[in-house]
Amino acid sequence: MDVNDPRLVSAARADDDAQYEAGLRPRRLDDYIGQDRVRENLQVSITAATKRGDALDHVLVYGPPGLGKTTLAYVIANELGVPIRTTAGPVIEKPGDLAGILSNLQPREVLFIDEIHRMAPAIEEILYPAMEDFELDIVIGQGPGARSVKVPVERFTLVGATTRAGLLTSPLRARFGIVQRLDFYTVADIEEIVRRSARILDVPMDDEAAREMASRARGTPRVANRLLRRVRDFAEVRANGRITLEVARAALALLEVDASGLDEVDRRLMLTIIDKFGGGPVGLNTLAAATSEEPDAIEDMHEPYLIQLGLLERTPRGRLATARAYDYFGRIMPARGLF
Ligand SMILES: Nc1ncnc2c1ncn2[C@@H]1O[C@H](COP(=O)(O)OP(=O)(O)O)[C@@H](O)[C@H]1O
Ligand SMILES: [Mg+2]
Repeated sequence: MDVNDPRLVSAARADDDAQYEAGLRPRRLDDYIGQDRVRENLQVSITAATKRGDALDHVLVYGPPGLGKTTLAYVIANELGVPIRTTAGPVIEKPGDLAGILSNLQPREVLFIDEIHRMAPAIEEILYPAMEDFELDIVIGQGPGARSVKVPVERFTLVGATTRAGLLTSPLRARFGIVQRLDFYTVADIEEIVRRSARILDVPMDDEAAREMASRARGTPRVANRLLRRVRDFAEVRANGRITLEVARAALALLEVDASGLDEVDRRLMLTIIDKFGGGPVGLNTLAAATSEEPDAIEDMHEPYLIQLGLLERTPRGRLATARAYDYFGRIMPARGLF
């Protein structure tokens, strides 16, 4: 997946988001808007662990990009009052790298591993005894003289994040005591996030404008914050700086974000299925080739939201445009599967 994807409503993280996001990222559970079930569960577990003076159980957070997984990892460390060390599955190259990180952890520290589904198997094996028994199995020497010694590590909390819980191996998954799924946010929650961000950024904005942006942010905080930033630019250049409903609408139209938050790629994906493949089913790779998009990006960023809107279905035989999709794009649905 191209993490520098410049598309506006893409939930992947663009370079210029990084600095901007740092200031908007909630630091406490109380500032973490929405995801009530997740918040409540974590609140209980964190309070209990803190009372016992023990490390929090390992936490796996999964869900589509931009929903707040990384944010949650930082919030957890903050609430526990411990440091956080971060890394990512694809950047850990050698087992020794991970062993080094693990053996330097402080008691109760949070180790955040992003994209944990992309960890190499040899590296994953280092994690098992560390997560379960807080020890490392180190092999000393080579050949027949080699022996394995156990080295203790501090009791720590692993927070793993993934967009694809399904790709996690079962031994790894089984070692997480707390598993939480993040869902798309409601429009009301996104509206609250937009308002909070506007406040922090000191952007004057009308309530109706916040709602308009929220309803087009595909239930994703990262997209909401990005829309806010673009609309703010528009308000400063084409109006007097205040984001009114009119300004928001005009800006969003210029940005080609439709009323449901679909972008150009979403539309192209759906119309390809409808117009080129008779509504499907069409396989992921065929669809990717036909649209010149990456299969990973389609699966991680576009499909979850299209499915959520009821426009797309994933079936064992491929992707299918729903009756609602035909309706949405003003196409007539062919009769299928009737006889
Ligand atoms: N629950 C939330 N409340 C407020 N803002 C949020 C929330 N979740 C995420 N955000 C905002 O969205 C941005 C993207 O979240 P992030 O944690 O990086 O997503 P992920 O790691 O799942 O891709 C953050 O910088 C933060 O500003
Ligand atoms: Mg992240």
